[in-house]
Amino acid sequence: MRERRALHLALITSFSAAPHTIGQWRLPRSYRGFDFRRLDYWEHLARTLERGLFDMMFFADAYTLHEAYGASPDAAIRGAVQYPRMDPFTLIPALSRVTRRLGFGVTASTTFLPPYWVARHFASLDHVTEGRIAWNVVTSYSDAEARQFGLDAIPDHDARYDRADEYVELCRKLWASWEPDAMVFDREAGIFADPVKVHRVDHDGKWFRCAGPLHVPPSPQGHPVIIQAGSSPRGMQFAARHAEVVFAVPGATARMSEQRDRLDEALAAEGRGPGEIKVLWGVTPILGTTDAEAEARRQEIIDHASAEGALVQLSGHLNADLSRWPADRPLEEMEVSGVRGYIGSRFAPGETLAGLAKRLGTGVGQHITGSAATVADRLEEMDEAGRGDGFMFVTTTLPGSVEDLVDLLVPELQRRGRFRTAYPTTLLRERFRA
Ligand SMILES: Cc1cc2nc3c(=O)[nH]c(=O)nc-3n(C[C@H](O)[C@H](O)[C@H](O)COP(=O)(O)O)c2cc1C
Repeated sequence: MRERRALHLALITSFSAAPHTIGQWRLPRSYRGFDFRRLDYWEHLARTLERGLFDMMFFADAYTLHEAYGASPDAAIRGAVQYPRMDPFTLIPALSRVTRRLGFGVTASTTFLPPYWVARHFASLDHVTEGRIAWNVVTSYSDAEARQFGLDAIPDHDARYDRADEYVELCRKLWASWEPDAMVFDREAGIFADPVKVHRVDHDGKWFRCAGPLHVPPSPQGHPVIIQAGSSPRGMQFAARHAEVVFAVPGATARMSEQRDRLDEALAAEGRGPGEIKVLWGVTPILGTTDAEAEARRQEIIDHASAEGALVQLSGHLNADLSRWPADRPLEEMEVSGVRGYIGSRFAPGETLAGLAKRLGTGVGQHITGSAATVADRLEEMDEAGRGDGFMFVTTTLPGSVEDLVDLLVPELQRRGRFRTAYPTTLLRERFRA
């Protein structure tokens, strides 16, 4: 048995009507009195999460319209399959004003956005949030996204990570270009900042050139907390090099230990220990005051989901048209250029498309259905199996499933000594390190 430590809890969402569960926008209890396009709704979520002492509100993001399936975007548009999706950066200043401790993770792609822009944006947000910002570093996965940025196709999988390695190194140089005490703000002497302590970076690499310095004084955390979610071997190598927090989707419980072993091996290869990274497992709790109520809610989600929607979303993530894959051929045999890590983690051995459509009809991610006690039991088992540090919760009903997490699950975890009862007064990075 591992030591029973306090868990870290985060919520994954995106600036969208149906972030991760197919059909969640049309659930009868979703968006009663709320409009997902308005700040009121997001402020309500942020306040609720802070009431529940969550570590972080995390915004997944991509610039894609899932149009790989059947070579058409129609099903994604009709069913709101992760579409439309607005810019999460725009929410952060407002959300940081209605909270004091909650952290915010925002996704930005190394394949499409210029490093100077990203480094400056996150450094500025670190100031605005007073040290509560994190960057989910993604390399992006679909041709549909590439076409939004003037490319015909997404660059090769491993080449995206090679480029991303240099990208993050350049961002680090930019964040370090001001020495911590460079800004002196001396009114009498008329010295705002000491030029000797503000350095050019003169980066001239394989992929990028940048003069620097960054035009942002040193921020509270120095730079954003780095989050990563790649699960292919190259993705894990990238995470092992750069990440402070890893977001992982668990396969079957029996496979979680193996997933964790692979990450630990990648960390060791980079000279880092397993404790130097925090692993948050992504799960979808469906809570009720009793097991029966939770089961009724699960049934409601199934009734409003669609197998087609699941295949549209998965085709988008894999950058492959699943409508062309033989229904009876094991999915493990597929070669994909998108999120390659799904092949090992999402599909059961020997699983076929026919089986998958049925299983994923309610969305991607592992569901845990039941009362707070039932869900907490299962989370404790998963924590033990995956040797993780906490969970990233996927939403269903909006905002009801978030309220359930805070009002039902958090008190249960607190009773078990598995979650904090007050926020420490630290920066987001220090909280994750504790
Ligand atoms: C749980 C999870 C969440 C992810 N979130 C995003 C996201 O918000 N935006 C994005 O472009 N890619 C996202 N990705 C894709 C990864 O960041 C990565 O680019 C992709 O998985 C390809 O790497 P891999 O083949 O190493 O897994 C996510 C992947 C996983 C497993």
